[in-house]
Amino acid sequence: MGKYRIAWLPGDGVGAEVMEAARIVLDAVHCDAEYIHGDIGWEFWCREGDAFPKRTVDLLGTVDAAMFGAITSKPVRAAEAELQPSLRGKGLVYRSPIVRMRQMFDLYTCLRPCRAYPGNPLNLKDAIDLVVFRENTEDLYAGVEFNPVPAELADLLGRISAPYAPFKNLPSGEVAVSCKVNTRKGSERIARAAFEFARTHGRKKVTIVHKANVVRATDGLFLEEAKKVAKEFPDIQVDDANVDAICMWLLKNPLAYDVLVAPNLYGDIISDLAAQMVGGLGFACSANIGTKLAVFEPSHGSAPKYAGQYKVNPIATILAAKMMLDWLGEKEKGKRVEDATASVIREGTVRTYDMGGGAKTLDIARAIAGKI
Ligand code: IPM
Ligand code: MG
Repeated sequence: MGKYRIAWLPGDGVGAEVMEAARIVLDAVHCDAEYIHGDIGWEFWCREGDAFPKRTVDLLGTVDAAMFGAITSKPVRAAEAELQPSLRGKGLVYRSPIVRMRQMFDLYTCLRPCRAYPGNPLNLKDAIDLVVFRENTEDLYAGVEFNPVPAELADLLGRISAPYAPFKNLPSGEVAVSCKVNTRKGSERIARAAFEFARTHGRKKVTIVHKANVVRATDGLFLEEAKKVAKEFPDIQVDDANVDAICMWLLKNPLAYDVLVAPNLYGDIISDLAAQMVGGLGFACSANIGTKLAVFEPSHGSAPKYAGQYKVNPIATILAAKMMLDWLGEKEKGKRVEDATASVIREGTVRTYDMGGGAKTLDIARAIAGKI
């Protein structure tokens, strides 16, 4: 028994390797925790028809936090084809477990710090220090999607939405509809999380990212709510930008930005862009935070082609573990993990292939653990 109960969810692909690395570092810093393994991943989809089995959902209801590795996702038909024969044709639908987890446990804040650690040869600029707040439960990720579009929906849209006219008489199967669903509450609370973070972390500016000039209903609502919240934080500078423009400006002038807040899909996109400016997905960590539970993960996927090779950079997962320590209130331990990571990066003698080195996943973890 430890002070904390942590669900340990390696997933598949390179998930298990990067989690093994994170564990070496958590042990080195003497994180007083009990780690409970949870089944999650592609193999459970194939074998049981559910990549996120109920027993794992139940486990998450009993823990203080969770660490999650990575999971393979495949398009609808490929997923169906890999189901064990007795499960095929039953209408089982694969939905990304991490997306389901964020929604089931209302992990509405996705926090993605992108900091350039000095000495990383992959940094675009050494002083980049961005923090992305991504709304994590709604938007185009709501899962309200139709392919084909049922006749009653096509009829209804044809009657109440003039812009649907060119689509309404297309044969069923020729058009698909994904609904972008954004609420005032969802927009308000992610904006509040971003502004509160800025205030408590000495950050100067929050940039609201949207496309409200075109996607008027949903992004208009998001922008409106975020601006309302901004008024409560007169000490924090606020600006807003269209998502396309911010991709250009971030790349051109990354030091002019600080905290960014965005609806789910734009947040997904700009966090990959920001990650690449500080070394790529091997450095990008992510926290999914709700009111009761928080789940920490690298932002990268399962990279099946590298699975089992102990080749990928575990720093993203090690920094996710650091975020978990901070969230549990173990800030001093979190700082030791970050300092040790920064020092391994700065020294540059132990580097994985992405940084031009020949070190393996666990070599990095041991080097970091050695500095703790
Ligand atoms: C991320 C990933 C996920 C997402 C995928 C794996 C479903 O890209 O965490 O950014 O789109 O949210
Ligand atoms: Mg992503």
